[in-house]
Amino acid sequence: MSNPLRHLAIIMDGNGRWAKERGLRRTKGHEAGVESVRRITEYCAEDPEIETLTLYAFSTENWKRPKMEVDYLMHLLEKFVRLERDRYMEHGIRFEAIGDLSPFTPRLRDTLEETRELTKENRNLTQILALNYGGRDEIVRAVQRMLDAGEEPSEEALGRHLDTPYTDVDLLIRTSGEQRLSNFLLWQLSYTELAFTQTYWPDFTVEELRTIIDDFKERHRKFGGI
Ligand code: IPE
Ligand code: IPE
Ligand code: MG
Repeated sequence: MSNPLRHLAIIMDGNGRWAKERGLRRTKGHEAGVESVRRITEYCAEDPEIETLTLYAFSTENWKRPKMEVDYLMHLLEKFVRLERDRYMEHGIRFEAIGDLSPFTPRLRDTLEETRELTKENRNLTQILALNYGGRDEIVRAVQRMLDAGEEPSEEALGRHLDTPYTDVDLLIRTSGEQRLSNFLLWQLSYTELAFTQTYWPDFTVEELRTIIDDFKERHRKFGGI
């Protein structure tokens, strides 16, 4: 019996190196990365089994980058989410954002909220963008919410207060050859199957995704059992 794949998460890495190898600015790599986001999201929306696609787009540590790159990423994000609305509606994609959105500009926050509201009835796929997201930060905010609600700590209670509506991730893919989590979904990845590829994110294709999924399907997931 093959493993069901309901929640796929991706650490979209390697945009900068993709650009550098072509003698381009890093920002060109981010621009090319947007095309991959579209391609992979639409593929997942067509797959009847995949319900959720969580994409790591900006970490709580990415503010350390040069201001020019951070500003560019914020601009690109605003533009992307706004432009994407028609496609979300066309392909039945529900949009969500996780992470601490409070440091973003009101304009960006409005764009995210309006898009979430517009697409909330769509059912083919939920695309979750992780923005100013850190796994540790998410857990701290969840603990705070759990305490504010006066609840006894438990895995169930804490899980409920996390940003992610579906907590368990079935498969995590990281592109670009790095083999680390970089503070992504620490709680939700406890029993996730991991896959790493050398391919830079802008070069990542649906064919490669399919190959990784087919491999995942045949793995023996034990969850601590035998
Ligand atoms: C991933 O690509 C995109 C973001 C983190 C926003 P990088 O920008 O990290 O690309 P590399 O790792 O420097 O090649
Ligand atoms: C992780 O990639 C964050 C995103 C993909 C958004 P990084 O490129 O920031 O991670 P490190 O610094 O290589 O660990
Ligand atoms: Mg990187």
